[in-house]
Amino acid sequence: MSTPHINANPGDFAETVLMPGDPLRAKYIAENFLQDARQVTDVRNMFGFTGTYNGKPVSIMGSGMGIPSMSIYARELIVSFGVKNLIRIGTCGGINQGTKIRDVIFAQGASTDSNVNRARVRGYDFAAIADFGLLENGVNAARRLGIEAKVGNVYTTDTFYQADSSFYPELDKLGVLAVDMETAGLYGVAAEYGAKAMALFTVSDHVITGEATPPEERQSTFNEMVKIALESI
Ligand code: ADE
Repeated sequence: MSTPHINANPGDFAETVLMPGDPLRAKYIAENFLQDARQVTDVRNMFGFTGTYNGKPVSIMGSGMGIPSMSIYARELIVSFGVKNLIRIGTCGGINQGTKIRDVIFAQGASTDSNVNRARVRGYDFAAIADFGLLENGVNAARRLGIEAKVGNVYTTDTFYQADSSFYPELDKLGVLAVDMETAGLYGVAAEYGAKAMALFTVSDHVITGEATPPEERQSTFNEMVKIALESI
């Protein structure tokens, strides 16, 4: 049955959904990496597709930007379409001095300036973490493909344009690798509704050094990350 934001039918989604932020990236993955892909939803042009990869069913759906958008789609996928595994694939901004543009990063945990996860636990802290099995499979897939990956804490922010970027060196000191805008929301929703979640990214820019990946290189680093995610299933 359709939900307010997904006009698919029961059984249209596979148990595992890869979620890039951009719905056109979802289309690109479906067209270039999956076999027998068909579009299953198009509300607000937030496209979702289901096909197979190496014979295994898999879906790809855009999440949009930010915790609220990701949380809406993740909740509806889990609660109304029976999705069990959600894997965010996206970009992040490097924070740590050891984090370089084009690096692949797995979010073992996600800190945040958002209140959504505290709201889940009466105002206390909630450690938003990746599912260990999905994380292990992802790291193992990267190793098999010969791609070096970093694993650690990330920071999910509500504000891409930070008024006070002097906070980033403080996060660096605490060992936070990178900043994104969705992962803490995804991990919180997955915990609340009993699904598994994991996020991996490529570093598109560095918030301390100001470096950025040239646009012409973004596609190849994105493809590497997609391959890791698909091979991890
Ligand atoms: N995703 C990619 N780069 C980012 C940044 N600098 N801040 C937040 N999210 C990002």
